Amino acid sequence: MLRRLHHTQPDSFAFTPANQAWAEAQITKYPEGRQASAIIPLLWRAQEQEGWLTRPALETVADMLDLAYIRALEVASFYFMFQLQPVGSVAHIQICGTTSCMICGAEDLVAVCKEKIAAKPHQLSADGKFSWEEVECLGSCTNAPMAQIGKDYYEDLTTARMGELIDALAAGEVPTPGPQNGRYASEPLHGLTSLKDFDSGHTKYNASVQLAVDIGDTVKRIDGTEVPLIAPWQGKAANASAQPKATGKTAPEKAKSPDAPKEVLEKASKGLGAKPAGLTAARDTGADDLKMIKGIGPKLETLLNNLGFFHFDQIATWTPDEVAWVDQNLEGFKGRASRDDWVAQATALADVGETDSSKRAKKDGMDDE
Ligand code: FES
Repeated sequence: MLRRLHHTQPDSFAFTPANQAWAEAQITKYPEGRQASAIIPLLWRAQEQEGWLTRPALETVADMLDLAYIRALEVASFYFMFQLQPVGSVAHIQICGTTSCMICGAEDLVAVCKEKIAAKPHQLSADGKFSWEEVECLGSCTNAPMAQIGKDYYEDLTTARMGELIDALAAGEVPTPGPQNGRYASEPLHGLTSLKDFDSGHTKYNASVQLAVDIGDTVKRIDGTEVPLIAPWQGKAANASAQPKATGKTAPEKAKSPDAPKEVLEKASKGLGAKPAGLTAARDTGADDLKMIKGIGPKLETLLNNLGFFHFDQIATWTPDEVAWVDQNLEGFKGRASRDDWVAQATALADVGETDSSKRAKKDGMDDE
């Protein structure tokens, strides 16, 4: 199947403040220089927020990880779990069409989706509420045929039950996930033949369904009402203070303020190093060309300016604590200040105005490395 970007794209994308903090925390899981490894969780978060992956979302994630846009597109177009086109506002229904499910009636379930949603996969229903696709084995073969709706599995389906599920979701209800024919889990259809004392004390639903019922986010998108996202490896809830107030709306709130990511970053890094004194603007003589420092390109220069650093002599005076703070606050470029020893480079540039790297930068132009 040819997977490419949808022909109609929104103008922009921004993580909600809570998701921005979460994404920044994810990046810190990986060693310096390996931040690109965070691409799948970040793309997934963007999809959970918007329902599908837009081009601006791909570009935003690529910028955060200092990746070329094509690298993000390669990942998004390779994995079928990423939706590259709009999905139903209520639910995207994934019918398993692999062997067990196919033998047990998956084609009939697809026929229900064609009739009730749209003639072709990945098409929106007339009211925009639903979309569907056929997927490969979802690992629930003993409960075939089955479908994933939103985050949860609906198993042991019939055509009649499939239709009822769609109707219920359209009416704003969320049917209980799991087996739809009265089975508890994946025991024999005609009842247990061994381990018959198993049912003493078990919960109303099997563990997967119980969890789905307890969380209650089967078809819910991220809207800021989630429990605080924890970054235990940082020893704190990185975004707890950044959680937006619950709005009760189903649509995600966008981070409109251009300052929001910066504020969140500062909060997320609280306690790491000491912030160097910055300026509100460059001195009258004009800002130094920070791209003369090896490893700094246009993006990092803009980021440094936003943090209040415009001149070589400012950077040259950073203490180790201040370098640590800067390292933690270089969105998408964490660790660069110490990695490339900006202090030594800036000292040389402030004193003599030139280093080997700056000579090359003058000659070639320099990208963020
Ligand atoms: S074949 Fe459908 S879940 Fe495995």
